[in-house]
Amino acid sequence: MFYSEDLTYLMIPGPVEIHPRVYQAMNEHVFGHRTAHFRTILQQATEGIQKVLGTVNPVAIMAGSGTLGLHAALSNVLRKGDEVLCFVNGKFSERQADIVSAFGIEPIIKEIPYGEPVLPEQVKEALETHPDVAITTVCHNETSTGVLSPLKEISEALKGSNSLLSADGITSAAGDYVLMDDWGVDLFVSGSQKCFGLPPGLAFISHSPKADERMNDPNGFPTYYDSIPLYSAGIKKGWDAPFTPPIGLVYGLLESLNIMFEEGLENRIKRHHKMGEAFRSAFLAMGLSLLAKENYHSNTVTTALLPEGVNSSEFSRVVREMGILIAGGQGHLKGKIFRVGHMNLVGPREVLMTVSVIEHALRKVGYEFTPGSGVTAASDVLM
Ligand SMILES: Cc1ncc(COP(=O)(O)O)c(C=O)c1O
Repeated sequence: MFYSEDLTYLMIPGPVEIHPRVYQAMNEHVFGHRTAHFRTILQQATEGIQKVLGTVNPVAIMAGSGTLGLHAALSNVLRKGDEVLCFVNGKFSERQADIVSAFGIEPIIKEIPYGEPVLPEQVKEALETHPDVAITTVCHNETSTGVLSPLKEISEALKGSNSLLSADGITSAAGDYVLMDDWGVDLFVSGSQKCFGLPPGLAFISHSPKADERMNDPNGFPTYYDSIPLYSAGIKKGWDAPFTPPIGLVYGLLESLNIMFEEGLENRIKRHHKMGEAFRSAFLAMGLSLLAKENYHSNTVTTALLPEGVNSSEFSRVVREMGILIAGGQGHLKGKIFRVGHMNLVGPREVLMTVSVIEHALRKVGYEFTPGSGVTAASDVLM
């Protein structure tokens, strides 16, 4: 195979391709984390994340993957005996429910068919039955199905209740609109290896004053490495990280944020929307069906159903042979769908390249459609 693994272009929904400037920044001399130099970098990086999340709330930058962020968000606010409402419309929203269960709390799970969003009326309905819910969890951009749920409306539906809203924004932030403060989200979690354009290893947890009120409670659960109050205290002490941070990743984070602001956050989001539209249009033109319900499509990951009779592993193998990595389905969707991530650096070139490779692979595995129809449709959107 000509394209060795290190030449394979990542079109999966994270990790993503990384800007050369970010690689360069990560290789800078490692300063001590208690130096004025590093404290300034940590402050600037945190302020950058706040801009991306539309918040003035503090952000804890922890060393770990996105799941650590979800774990920390919940471990810090859960109390014994809490009623926790978890909306599950895919594999990642299920993860927050799993974390709650790991604390010995049986979550109230509201299952929503894969491909569909969480809707505010479903939240209102659930609250009528469970008015004492303390925490509600949702996944803003469900990566396993390519569905974006209306977080603002979900948050509005929670008004009048005492419930905190914990949102997994691991594949929305920095690729789509997030206005944590305007929307009234209490806990918003994201991670480095998706739209933030870094290697894996950093989790970001932003927390509202209402969430903070629940922390350090005698009825809460023990935390230490994942203690949000420790991070907040460090920030107040002069941008002191409680534990040694992955210094190179934080350098990279600041550079990635610089690149984002040079493009302009609004332009960046519009680019992600446009690339999403191009992929959707291409797949539909090729006669494929999209998994995500119309009007609730993710703008950072597109999911399409594999045509009847197409062998999923064979299809993925041909795509990989052409030097591109895309993702398959998870759980019961394994072998039934494919997923394309379009985050961070994905622009028109990557869309046209990926669509033509997918066309080639589908032809090779025997799917009949008009060759070139996907590329033409994508190109029309990009014109
Ligand atoms: C929406 C969402 N939540 C959670 C995760 C888990 O993140 P990690 O693998 O970084 O722990 C992912 C990873 O793909 C994700 O897309």
